[in-house]
Amino acid sequence: MMFGLHAAANLLGFLPHLYATVLAEPGQKQFPEISKRSVVCLKVGNTAVATWTNSAGQTCSFTGLVGSNYGINTVNEGDYSCNGRCGAGCSGAAVGNAYTQDCFSHDICSYFENASGASQDPNCGAAYDAAIDDTLFGVTSGCSQENPTEQIKKPATSPICQ
Ligand SMILES: *[C@@H]1O[C@H](CO)[C@@H](O)[C@H](O)[C@H]1NC(C)=O
Repeated sequence: MMFGLHAAANLLGFLPHLYATVLAEPGQKQFPEISKRSVVCLKVGNTAVATWTNSAGQTCSFTGLVGSNYGINTVNEGDYSCNGRCGAGCSGAAVGNAYTQDCFSHDICSYFENASGASQDPNCGAAYDAAIDDTLFGVTSGCSQENPTEQIKKPATSPICQ
């Protein structure tokens, strides 16, 4: 996934805030950001549907393979190996090798939309935000898998946005 260098910083910056909030209010039922979101594991080698809302407000979808390898996007220079893995490519900083729906949607969105700027990207920012809990809790949610070793193969089709 295309979190890149500042994503590692993001991840680290996010953790203290999250835990501080959870720990500071033990009487609170649930941290709203957690209760609203969820971690859905995906299986490497299976087909999955990535969805996101683009900057025009359209719903985009693309069906692809979990763990596929699109290589480098020459526009944003992101590494799109191990699509669906939470963390850059197959080996970028991450808690572990967790494959989830939200990380897949963000990877695919960011590949096709040439995304950059994490949360700030006009097409994939929301998908990025939705993938934060997956990135933090994917491993503890049981989404950990062995990374595939796929050859680079550019996607043959494009997302549908409507
Ligand atoms: C992303 O960049 C590629 C290569 O320049 C271009 O063909 C494609 O249209 C761009 N995608 C978007 C959504 O702008």
